[in-house]
Order: sequence, then C-alpha cells, then structure tokens
Amino acid sequence: MKKIGIIGVGEYLPKKILTNADLEKMVDTSDEWITTRTGIKERHIVSEGEAASDLAFNASNLALADAGIKAEDLDLIVVATITGDMPFPSVASILQNKLGAMHAACFDISAACAGFVYALSVANQFLACGTYKNALVIGVEVLTSVTDWLDRGTCVLFGDGCGAVVLSEVKSGGIISSYLGCDGSRANILNMPAGGSRCPATHETVDKRMHYIKMQGNELFKIAVNTMTKAALVVLEQAKMTFADVDLIIPHQANARIIMAVAKKLGIPEDKVYLNIERCGNMSSASTATALCEAVKEGRVKKGDIILLDAFGAGLVWGASVIQW
Ligand code: UT7
Repeated sequence: MKKIGIIGVGEYLPKKILTNADLEKMVDTSDEWITTRTGIKERHIVSEGEAASDLAFNASNLALADAGIKAEDLDLIVVATITGDMPFPSVASILQNKLGAMHAACFDISAACAGFVYALSVANQFLACGTYKNALVIGVEVLTSVTDWLDRGTCVLFGDGCGAVVLSEVKSGGIISSYLGCDGSRANILNMPAGGSRCPATHETVDKRMHYIKMQGNELFKIAVNTMTKAALVVLEQAKMTFADVDLIIPHQANARIIMAVAKKLGIPEDKVYLNIERCGNMSSASTATALCEAVKEGRVKKGDIILLDAFGAGLVWGASVIQW
C-alpha cells in the first residue's frame, strides 16, 4: 500500500457573522448561557443564495493552490455533507463542474459530524491501493439551512463553513490509522425528520417544523464524551501509539465542555487541543475540516507532528484518524 498524506489545505467561512448578542434579539437566550454551556461566541452564516457547493468551491481553490495541483489533476472528489445544495445530485458533482475537475469520480458521504473523518478514510483507501492518485476531500455544511430559529435549544449552536484538503502519495508520514464506527440504535436522538422518503415534504411537515434539526442535546452530551474518548483510544492503539505521541488533537467542535471532558479523560493538556468553536460554532462535518486547515495555517502543525482527528455525530457515528504531518 502507498503512503497517503495531506498535501494542501483550504478553508472558507461565509463573510456574515451572527453573534450571541444577535441571537439574544431572536430567542430567549443570553450570551452568558451560550458561552458557559457551549463555548460559542459567534458563528459564520451564509448570505441568501449561498449554498454548500459555493463554500466548497472557494475552499477547494485554496486547497488546490496550496497543494500546487490543478483541478484537472484530480481523479476523486469526496464531499462530506448533510446539507448539500439539494437532495441530489451530490455536492461533489456540482463542485466538479465549477472547478473543471473533469477527470474526477465524485460522490458525497453522509456521516454527519464524523463525515470529514469518514471521507478522509474512504479517499485514503482509493489512493493507498493505487486506484486514484489525487483526491479532494471536503467537509462542508450550511447547517443554518436546517436550523429552527424558534428553537433556542439548537439555534444557538450551529454555523456554516467548509474545509478542503488534497490527498496524494507522500514519501513519509501521512494517514497512519483510521477508526470508524456507528450505533444506529440511537439514530433518533439527533435527526431531521422530514424531507426524505420516510416523510416527504408536504404542507403539513413544513407547518410542523419537521425540516429542521431535532436534538436531544443532554442525552447526546454523555455519549459524545464517552464515544470520542473510546475512538481516540482505539485509533491510537491501531497506530501503536500513546497520547504522549500526539502533538495536537483536532476534535469535532460540538461543545467546548465535551472537548475538554474528552481531553481530561485522556490526560491530554489543553494546549494540545485545537478549538475554533468560539468563532465558528458547530459546523458538523466542516468543524474538523476547518479546524485542521486553521491549525496548519497557524503553524500549530509542523512537519513530523502527530495529529489526532476525533469526531462524533448523528447516526450515531464516530471516526478518528492518526496522521503524521
Ligand atoms: O454535533 C454532534 C452532536 N451534538 C452534540 O454532541 C451536542 C451535545 N449536547 C450539548 O452540547 C448540550 O447538551 C447543549 C449545549 C445542547 C445543551 O446544554 P445543556 O447543559 O445540556 O442544557 P440542557 O439542554 O440540559 O438545558 C438546561 C436548561 C433548560 O432549562 P430548564 O429546563 O433547566 O429550566 C433549557 O430550557 O437551559 C435551557 N436552555 C437555554 N437557556 C438559554 C436551553 N437552551 C437555552 C438557550 N438559552 N439557548
């Protein structure tokens, strides 16, 4: 098997920012509640008419420039998203056309907040066995398109954004191990009930606000901490490493309290944890993707460093990856 690593990164966040103060005017909430319960201060949100593939296009161009390759050199595009431009075709297909990546096979992956880690792992398999050479892997979400602005329990949490990476063969390091999992028996505690084949869109489903994210946050909290802790342990064991080997952990950014509880359980000091939740909120698959891009751009990841991606979300699904930079 070939060694596959990330050779370019790109992040795009929509220009518009929604602060906690703005939310105080929309629902019965406070900056104090949101900050202490979640760690979120503000989030980027799309402008009218801006969709997932628009964000992905901007992030992809940056990632391609960073990697020093052209769109026509791509032979695979994998997009992790649960908020595509439309139910079909895939964001990857729409993006292929925008980029002019005419030689790339394209598909989306639906694994919610673990989507980017799932997508990285899938693309890695194609490249490691030699089927494809250059892959563009993206985590993109426009969660505000499925956010119920009347529900204070969820609307304060989410944001929009995109992180893109280019994967290719590397001489050393790269993706060392990946661990993906799912517990479908708990699928009901975080979902969007309508708009699929179980409950197609009707006037009634719209009136009942069934096209928005429904979440039992409290129940998820504990499962998130335990699952992310376990995923980190398993993937490091697979890599024959311990936490002492990890230079930076890049977790899914659902809640700063979840992340710090995981770090504490694992004995990882806070300065080894990358956070962008304060500025971006929870962007599902885009959270780990953008956090990775930012950590690289800020110089928090240096050549040879070991980074640990650790994500958890609706499904319930989880994914963790150990990567040597
Ligand atoms: O993305 C991957 C999956 N998602 C997660 O992993 C999310 C996990 N869950 C969480 O992050 C947290 O559970 C939340 C941030 C969603 C909620 O925090 P919490 O500490 O679990 O609060 P809670 O839901 O238990 O609510 C506590 C109180 C309630 O009031 P009462 O019943 O105690 O009077 C809520 O009505 O806080 C109230 N509340 C709010 N108050 C002000 C809920 N949302 C708000 C709000 N502003 N926005």
